[in-house]
Amino acid sequence: MAQPTQNSANKMTRAGSQLLARKSIDRLIAEADEPEHRLKKTLGPWSLTALGIGAIIGSGIFVLTGTAAAGEHFEAPSILHAQVLDLLVNLIRNGNSAGVLMHGRPPAGPSIALSFILVAIACAFAGLCYAELASMIPIAGSAYTYSYATLGEIFAWIIGWDLILEYAVSNVAVAVGFSGYAKAQLAAFGLVISDKWASPVWSGGQWTGAYFNLPAFLIVFILTLLLVRGVRESAGANNVMVIIKIGAILTFLVVGGMLINPANWKPFAPSGFAGVVTGGAIVFFTYIGFDSVSTAAEECHSPQKDLPFGIIASLIVCTILYVGVAVVLLGMMKYTTFASGKAAEAPVAYALQYLGARPVFRSIIVLGALMGMISSLLVFQYGQARIWYAMSRDGLLPKLFSAVHPKFKTPHWSTWIACLAVGLPAGFVDIGDAADLSNIGTLFAFVLVALGVIFLRRTQPDRPRSFKVPFVPWFPLMAVILCGGLMLGLIVITWLRFFGWLAIGLVIYFAYSRKHSEFARKAISN
Ligand code: ALA
Repeated sequence: MAQPTQNSANKMTRAGSQLLARKSIDRLIAEADEPEHRLKKTLGPWSLTALGIGAIIGSGIFVLTGTAAAGEHFEAPSILHAQVLDLLVNLIRNGNSAGVLMHGRPPAGPSIALSFILVAIACAFAGLCYAELASMIPIAGSAYTYSYATLGEIFAWIIGWDLILEYAVSNVAVAVGFSGYAKAQLAAFGLVISDKWASPVWSGGQWTGAYFNLPAFLIVFILTLLLVRGVRESAGANNVMVIIKIGAILTFLVVGGMLINPANWKPFAPSGFAGVVTGGAIVFFTYIGFDSVSTAAEECHSPQKDLPFGIIASLIVCTILYVGVAVVLLGMMKYTTFASGKAAEAPVAYALQYLGARPVFRSIIVLGALMGMISSLLVFQYGQARIWYAMSRDGLLPKLFSAVHPKFKTPHWSTWIACLAVGLPAGFVDIGDAADLSNIGTLFAFVLVALGVIFLRRTQPDRPRSFKVPFVPWFPLMAVILCGGLMLGLIVITWLRFFGWLAIGLVIYFAYSRKHSEFARKAISN
């Protein structure tokens, strides 16, 4: 009897140690250098910055700024629509949820400009943490790879799974936003696409009567063709699009700036600090993407220097542009205007049209916005495929995901699977739910990365870091507090969806990935 007991004890210890097994950083770097896994090195610091801006400025600034300023109001009261922060505060103060706002989120008003700054500060702290890890572990896979080297396999899986929310789900939102603006611009050119084939099938908890959102699917499909052909062509196209969309935003600042009525800036903060936090939790979406620069680590010339530069530079440029857009837009029209209808769907275009800006300027700005969405989609599709590529290389996903195209040297299967994973849902859902789910997943990844920096400074203090976060552990802790605070600004249903997503991920891990991981293979061969 003693023998089986001993065996099962051994198995349990092995299983437990596999969950916390960590990849050696030296091995990670060596593996990436194996010829069959090697990707082409084509990117420099400015291409990386352009890659970052390409990912960051997408549909968020053009769609969510107005709605976040105006707040959100659901007719039917429900705890599912309550903000988690509000719920916690009431539970702590009163011991019950009696005072909780069950109808949605309070408006930020013009103070949404402060929300952008608050979120930028949170992202800067998280960005510094990303930069340190990326410069230590210059390997494809972003936070997934970092957590495999620092926290262990189970955490790496959780974060890799979580990053699907940041990359694929956010791209679903951007593709839907693209479809809305594309439809409006084509209509301005006299080409009307039927709503049945160009709007969400499921929105606001009900069927809309539409069949499929074809433009949202098609744009993802076309970009996939570009990505499979290789990073050089894609990065080149991305650089051009970044210039165009920055130009469009600057045009908006000038044209819209002349239409400002300062009376619209009052009251500045109708819901006080609560409104600023709530607004921040929504517009956080507009910053998602700067960390995707780190997923290109294997494809840049000098990752140790270029990655921190690319991350921080892209963050600074976007913050300046975003605050500018918020100040101008909310000076043009009262924040309450953007609560619903066309003003909520396309606030920038609506305000320009309403206040009589010339059609040529409106078209320049909307076409620039569309370019912004395209380059954002491009970088996220790129990043998602690279993360799956890294996970497959570790055995957590089937080998197909790490197959490299013999001619183009890109992970072509991952890229095509990402096309279907984003394009098909984008054909059905609407932007709001996808953006919220993406926000919570990304904020969670930021928290884990910041904790990873603190952990690695203790366990591997001597490993070279060409970029170091100052004031550790305080700066990473600021990232944890600020990103955690923004997570609490989201509503209950988003948290439930997030937990559901993580639960599905754990089922897949225990049913497949744990058995196929390279650590499991090693344990069997021992
Ligand atoms: N940051 C990206 C956007 O604003 C996701 O659309």
